[in-house]
Amino acid sequence: MDYQALIDEVYQEVSSMGLKGKVADYIPQLADIDPELFGLALVDLEGNIYGAGDYRKEFSIQSISKVHTLTMVMHVFKSKLWHRVNVEPSGNPFNSVAQLEYEKGIPRNPFINAGALVITDALVSKYENPEKDIIDFINDITGHKSVKVNELVHQSEIDHSDRNMALAHFLKAHNNFNNNIDRVLDVYTYACSLEMNCIDLARSFSFFANDGYCIFAKRRILSQSHNQRINSLMLTCGFYDESGEFAFRVGLPGKSGVGGGVAAVLPGKFSVAAFSPQLNEKGNSLKAMKALELLTTKLEFSLF
Ligand code: DON
Repeated sequence: MDYQALIDEVYQEVSSMGLKGKVADYIPQLADIDPELFGLALVDLEGNIYGAGDYRKEFSIQSISKVHTLTMVMHVFKSKLWHRVNVEPSGNPFNSVAQLEYEKGIPRNPFINAGALVITDALVSKYENPEKDIIDFINDITGHKSVKVNELVHQSEIDHSDRNMALAHFLKAHNNFNNNIDRVLDVYTYACSLEMNCIDLARSFSFFANDGYCIFAKRRILSQSHNQRINSLMLTCGFYDESGEFAFRVGLPGKSGVGGGVAAVLPGKFSVAAFSPQLNEKGNSLKAMKALELLTTKLEFSLF
């Protein structure tokens, strides 16, 4: 398979479509970005890189970090985690407050904000220095120093986190929150404010395509069972109330972020990341989703 030719073709085709979306601004600092940026990178399981456009440009990974932090707590808490957060698609926006009340304080899944706050609460309980441990973990699974925090985005998100604060207080009211709320919000927004480029984001997802074994860290990150579970959650919940659309159009486990990134995996073949800050009305990147749709269509591959 000539992945470079494929990536170039997908990049050119999406670039010529004139897709227009809206850059996220509810976290004001996120709006400080060139809206025309667009890139994608594919990394195969031998570590070969195939990229096009702005694939070396770093961007805010936002909710994609929720997959990294879930991985960090998965093997620690094992089944105990799933008494605190469910594994069902939400069918609602990522920051829905209403749904948490219906679910009596048990978030539908670990990728909606309420679920990610429970995961971060578990991470703060387990890790002495969560900010450093998250950076070290991502550097380990990418095989080099690949990630850094954007402190301006971090502060901007802390200054505009009333909705997440409300979710955290509601979780605490339902005895589903063990640590100091400000501390957990600080770690959660820190993880969301991490910046990577498409190459390193794809490298950080490589082990999900490789049964849980990371070719860059040269070690097993997840058991095959836990790896399958996270891939299943990405397939059913990775795009919130657009997860069905992504599964229908792309057919891969994946995760989006309001910074405009999308990461996905084709198990046994490759991991891929695409980035464009212009989002659709569901908060997912228009060009990145279209790029992955074209990729699987042209490859005539998907999970099914
Ligand atoms: O908590 C928030 O609202 C952001 N830090 C992350 C949201 C996000 O990326 C949703 N994904 N599309």
